[in-house]
Amino acid sequence: MPNVAILGSTGSIGRMTLEVIASLGPPYRVAALGAGRQVERLAAQVAATGAPAVSVADEETAEALRRSLPRGAAPDIVWGSEGLAVLAARPDVDIVVSAVSGGAGLPAALAAVRAGKRLALANKESLVMAGDLVMAEAGRTGAEVIPVDSEHSAIFQAMQGGRRSEVRRVFLTASGGPFYRRPEEAHRGVTPEEALEHPTWSMGRKITIDSATLMNKALEIIEAHHLFGLGADEIEVVLHPESTVHSVVEFVDGSCLAQLGPPDMRTPIQYALTYPERRPSPWPRLDLAAVGGLHFESPDVQRFPAIELGFEVVRRGGTLGAALAAADEVAVEAFLDGRIRFTEIVPLVERVLAKHHWMERPTLDDILRTDARTREETTRCLTSCTSSK
Ligand SMILES: NC(=O)c1ccc[n+]([C@@H]2O[C@H](COP(=O)([O-])OP(=O)(O)OC[C@H]3O[C@@H](n4cnc5c(N)ncnc54)[C@H](OP(=O)(O)O)[C@@H]3O)[C@@H](O)[C@H]2O)c1
Repeated sequence: MPNVAILGSTGSIGRMTLEVIASLGPPYRVAALGAGRQVERLAAQVAATGAPAVSVADEETAEALRRSLPRGAAPDIVWGSEGLAVLAARPDVDIVVSAVSGGAGLPAALAAVRAGKRLALANKESLVMAGDLVMAEAGRTGAEVIPVDSEHSAIFQAMQGGRRSEVRRVFLTASGGPFYRRPEEAHRGVTPEEALEHPTWSMGRKITIDSATLMNKALEIIEAHHLFGLGADEIEVVLHPESTVHSVVEFVDGSCLAQLGPPDMRTPIQYALTYPERRPSPWPRLDLAAVGGLHFESPDVQRFPAIELGFEVVRRGGTLGAALAAADEVAVEAFLDGRIRFTEIVPLVERVLAKHHWMERPTLDDILRTDARTREETTRCLTSCTSSK
């Protein structure tokens, strides 16, 4: 039964998931909604879906939500990262759409796979931080982890054209973000407003900045490693500004299977919900003639060094992914708050990673400690390691 918990329901992916469920109609139904602090939007979602369970950021927000709910609506309300995990494990939930941004998504992703639910995963940070643990738990319980990220959905779909042992490598496509063609000198003065204007995708703030630095591609390299068991030498990043070919799988005989579509997340969200079936959808269709040309080129890793960090995490593993995710989250927030320049984001992350006390086989506690310590270290480094603005 497709009873769906949407974690991050007030965000970009969460709202599109609600559209997809409304379009699919019964028997798809919203069984739980998890969000942070957007009380009015969440109250409207509860009213529209009749969701019986809700989670918010904290107790104060829970009180504000209670006051905002329409008469007659009385869902169970929980809060905090434990609240999201409680929703993910509820017996009346079959599919958990994990669409919280950042490291806050990890406890619920783990709770979902531990409870044997289908995890429709948009929150790549949970795999970047603890991919070994999440995938091992999924293997133990038989939980399905179905990617929502468009590139990984493409790989997941293309891989159905052969056996895993027949895959030679994958081409992970990247739009390049808004500044790829801008001369390097012009990157220094980039404002948050400019960086939040993505040329092809409309997304939340953190992922949009990550797309501009290409750190998003580093996170996706790590995500692909965990989802598909790919080594660093089996993943190739290729620039593709049209965001039409979402990724490509090359098989041992030289055949390449790609998945294409307009840059619209509702298609991979729907596929993660309906898999292994495909359902008709009203989302925009690909007009290949209108796209005209499809272009591909190797990324300039000198100008965009974040990509290499993704490969380094795949090669070394352990706690390095958790450190990368934490450092990047703090650095992106600092840029959005005007505390550091755009060009300081990746060097700050690199500096913090260079000092990281690496551990090879971390437990969940080790990963959570790494997350907390790296956030502290990055915050400290904001004042002591970067040039002032
Ligand atoms: N957007 C895309 O097209 C896209 C594509 C691929 C992958 N992804 C991935 O999907 C995830 C979500 O991205 P997004 O673009 O949808 O982000 P977003 O628009 O910023 O939304 C984030 C959601 O997470 C909630 N949230 C944040 N911190 C929370 C916390 N501590 N506790 C509870 N809820 C919290 C927010 O709640 P409030 O706003 O109510 O505070 C909001 O509902 C990210 O991991 C991103 O990398 C996104």
